[in-house]
Amino acid sequence: MIENVRPRTIDNDWDRFYREFPEVYDRFAVTSEPIVNVIDQMVGLQGKSVLDVASGTGKSTFKLAKSARRVIGLEPWAEMRNVAVLKATSQRIDNVAFVNGDARNIPFEENTFDLVISVYGFPFWFLDQRFPKGRQWAEKFISDAEFVLKPGGHIALAFSAPGQYAGDLTPIISPEMAQTGNQNTQDAQEFLKARFEYRDVKIVREYSSVQEAVETYGFIFGQEAIDHLNENNQLAIPWTIRIWHRQVSKP
Ligand SMILES: C[S@@+](CC[C@H](N)C(=O)[O-])C[C@H]1O[C@@H](n2cnc3c(N)ncnc32)[C@H](O)[C@@H]1O
Repeated sequence: MIENVRPRTIDNDWDRFYREFPEVYDRFAVTSEPIVNVIDQMVGLQGKSVLDVASGTGKSTFKLAKSARRVIGLEPWAEMRNVAVLKATSQRIDNVAFVNGDARNIPFEENTFDLVISVYGFPFWFLDQRFPKGRQWAEKFISDAEFVLKPGGHIALAFSAPGQYAGDLTPIISPEMAQTGNQNTQDAQEFLKARFEYRDVKIVREYSSVQEAVETYGFIFGQEAIDHLNENNQLAIPWTIRIWHRQVSKP
């Protein structure tokens, strides 16, 4: 019999991570919650109708749903979405819904939402130089977001700040990422700066044990990360998150 052996690390292979280990993602992604708190301070979530693009296992969606009136999570991977749907059902959270969809083609009608948000989501990967059509997709995402927003609605996008791919440990894990930052290249930053204002916030992810840090953070970021956590007994990893924001005015 062939056993499906779990690797020690998925070595930065995010597509594999989302498809094969969505529950590990869910344990890892707790920093989405303080990010939503900051966005709440910026735009006020109370009573709002929100579209959460790239909602994954629902970490950002459920946090939004604590204050907002209604939240729809848009997520293309069934494996990630299923974790979110199960949680909504078992915890009887009825002001959320999870929809199969792609950030490059937002499937909603005009003037539907007060806020379009994406936490560690689109359009950042597409500003990566690997995607020749990335800018086109990012433009499409922004114009779709404007279309589905009501007049005076807000767009808020959160992602690691430049050089913060894996938080403050980035230079140890990948000196190259610390320099270029992958999707956080100068070009990508210029693209976003021309369209949004931004604010940087510092968030500390605290683990209850080194084992927990190794099994989540280390599992994603590779052997260098695992070695560093073990050697330094490190339980807290600070991250700088850049939150991009714009209020949309419509004719
Ligand atoms: C880092 S997770 C963020 C999940 C969630 N927002 C959170 O705070 O935990 C990124 C998510 O984007 C999803 N994704 C990948 N490609 C996408 C696309 N083209 N459109 C929308 N979502 C996409 C992935 O499947 C993954 O669930």
